[in-house]
Amino acid sequence: MYRLLCKDGSAKRGEFTTVHGVIQTPVFMNVGTAAAIKGAVSTEDLGNLKTQVELSNTYHLHLRPGDEVIKKLGGIHKFMVWDKPVVTDSGGFQVFSLAKLRKIKEEGVKFSSHIDGRKIFMGPEESMQIQSNIASTIAMAFDECPGLPCERKYMEQSVARTERWLLRCKNELNRLNSLPDTINKHQLLFGINQGGVYSDIRIENAKRISDMDLAGYAIGGLAVGETHEEMYQTLETVVPYLPENKPTYLMGVGTPENILESVERGVDFFDCVYPSRNGRHGNAYTNHGKMNLNNAKYELDDRPLDSACDCPVCKRYSRAYIRHLLKAGEMLGMRFLVMHNLYFYNNMMEEIRSAIEKGEFQVYKKAKLDGFKAGE
Ligand code: GUN
Ligand code: ZN
Repeated sequence: MYRLLCKDGSAKRGEFTTVHGVIQTPVFMNVGTAAAIKGAVSTEDLGNLKTQVELSNTYHLHLRPGDEVIKKLGGIHKFMVWDKPVVTDSGGFQVFSLAKLRKIKEEGVKFSSHIDGRKIFMGPEESMQIQSNIASTIAMAFDECPGLPCERKYMEQSVARTERWLLRCKNELNRLNSLPDTINKHQLLFGINQGGVYSDIRIENAKRISDMDLAGYAIGGLAVGETHEEMYQTLETVVPYLPENKPTYLMGVGTPENILESVERGVDFFDCVYPSRNGRHGNAYTNHGKMNLNNAKYELDDRPLDSACDCPVCKRYSRAYIRHLLKAGEMLGMRFLVMHNLYFYNNMMEEIRSAIEKGEFQVYKKAKLDGFKAGE
């Protein structure tokens, strides 16, 4: 259950209670697609990085190790040794972005696995069955995420079908939650708003899915080829039509700047691969902007990545050491950067929550953005 604690302008500060604990929002979910945070970061590490929620993927876990395997082992919480909330994305997005030879029909999508080419069918019922076997805290609805630009006619038909799929997801999850051998009988369902940058399609869809009384609502189909301005404009258009007393989740977004702008427009949940992916590529997010540790200027720099950071890495290790690790091809370098970046994002969300509580979000946002731009 979501409780709206307070607002500062359109920015929301909420509390979402689940069977796996309470999520304080706005929150950034840490991405562990295949039940692992890439960069050799364990769930034990997450305990030291202010992580509240982990996000895994239906498509990946269905292919490997198989959701039946996870079910036999007691569900994803036991499997990963993580007792806090887990969200699973439905597989819709990944089927469209990763799998080959897809065929979309009313029933669902036929595709071949990006791992071994094996032919697989996934529709709303299959996605819910897989997510129920994984036993995540929150299941995402099975949707189509059309790439942008997208013709109006195609978008209308796609959104109408995603709506029909949402009703099927809801019915199937209700059925699964009532079965005796279901691991998490309280699994929640979030619907996903689509419509690209067509305001009227987004709004009509938002109104209809809001009537379905789901646990939360995601905004999908963004950060797929449109400009940042178009994304912010879309949020301003659609968020007012989603229930204020439910969490809103902007899928796959984004940079620290994107998050600040989106919190301002009423978003509660975020997820993005940037902190882990950029960490693996030698980049650190800091209060003075992004830095690449491969740069020669850090060779003799004995300062921490960010002197204002209290993460387990900044408390002990220098830029020079991390740069050496990267240069020597030591995995530890990537691991340190991913840990710092996740902490940076999670800590920024904590600062955001506190700023909203104090009614100082605008001041906080400006100072944070100025710091990013100023550099060192
Ligand atoms: N991740 C990023 N965007 C999307 C989306 O539109 N749908 C789903 N299911 N996942 C996403
Ligand atoms: Zn740090």
